[in-house]
Amino acid sequence: MKTSDALVIDEPKTHEPTAQAVAEPAIESGPRATTGVKDAKIYIDGKFYTEADAKISVLDHGLLYGDGIFEGIRFYHGRVFRLEEHLARLWDSAHSICLEIPMSMRDMTEAVLETIRQNHLRNGYIRLLVTRGIGNLGLNPTQCKYPSVIIIAATIALYHENFYRKGLTIVTCATRRSSPAALNPAVKSLNYLNNVMARIEANLAGADEALMLNDAGNVAECTADNVFIIKRGQIFTPPITAGALRGITRSIVFEIAAELGIKITEADITRHDVFVADECFLTGTAAEIIPVVKADGRLIGNGKPGPITARTIARFREMTRETGTPIFV
Ligand SMILES: Cc1ncc(COP(=O)(O)O)c(C=O)c1O
Repeated sequence: MKTSDALVIDEPKTHEPTAQAVAEPAIESGPRATTGVKDAKIYIDGKFYTEADAKISVLDHGLLYGDGIFEGIRFYHGRVFRLEEHLARLWDSAHSICLEIPMSMRDMTEAVLETIRQNHLRNGYIRLLVTRGIGNLGLNPTQCKYPSVIIIAATIALYHENFYRKGLTIVTCATRRSSPAALNPAVKSLNYLNNVMARIEANLAGADEALMLNDAGNVAECTADNVFIIKRGQIFTPPITAGALRGITRSIVFEIAAELGIKITEADITRHDVFVADECFLTGTAAEIIPVVKADGRLIGNGKPGPITARTIARFREMTRETGTPIFV
């Protein structure tokens, strides 16, 4: 990495992304590899680089072994949504894999905010990575003395608004979610091949998402989302021990349920429970809260997003409009 390539940036000019920029998916890879941001600036270890110059070593163990951690974070209307929770989870992931993040949480907060400012965005998505750093070709991380911090700001529209109105179709995939005894899904690591394999199955089946089961045959989660079902007015979701990430959006659903006076329970869920649910929805930072209306060819409820899902989405959207860490102060 050539540090001389670092950009000197002018005072940020803020603007809402254009409709076209928003419509361009930043996460689902399109024909063009891009953040969707014009003249994007990418943060690497304290400096900003153009998209073309933002590079890390091929000897970084993040690339060689998926050895590292990440967070996906949203910002709405000039505020970063649930930043503290994302950073707390990042630090937990780091602790779990014995990776020392080379900066304080306070400096990381400022780095995230500054990356958004440099990209002149008010709404979008942040991908924050900490890689193990450069080592030799052996997998032993003791070789890697300097972890790298990378922050990418992007525009995002993972699912078109139609999917929020009409709902997704999911299929159960044969690929089981990694056993917590092997690679705990609670660690948000750079090794997402388990999820990618499931995603490929969904693609091959022509479905919008893949439902991943754990070794016991119970529902764990989808490829990048937590799963919720509703039966007789109550919400259920698998416990973290079923092999689910402790989703930030998942925890917001617990808050919303408490506010709305709807009982919510962590419980083991089978495919059958999904088939016979009155409603189903997925949660994730990128997908937000999105209804599911068909699983393995069975309609869920009446095949339309249900009322509790709709109320939860409405309250979630209110929260994204009203709360968050200010970017421009
Ligand atoms: C495997 C997996 N499960 C669940 C989630 C949802 O978590 P969150 O709501 O924190 O984005 C994600 C997204 O980060 C994920 O990658």
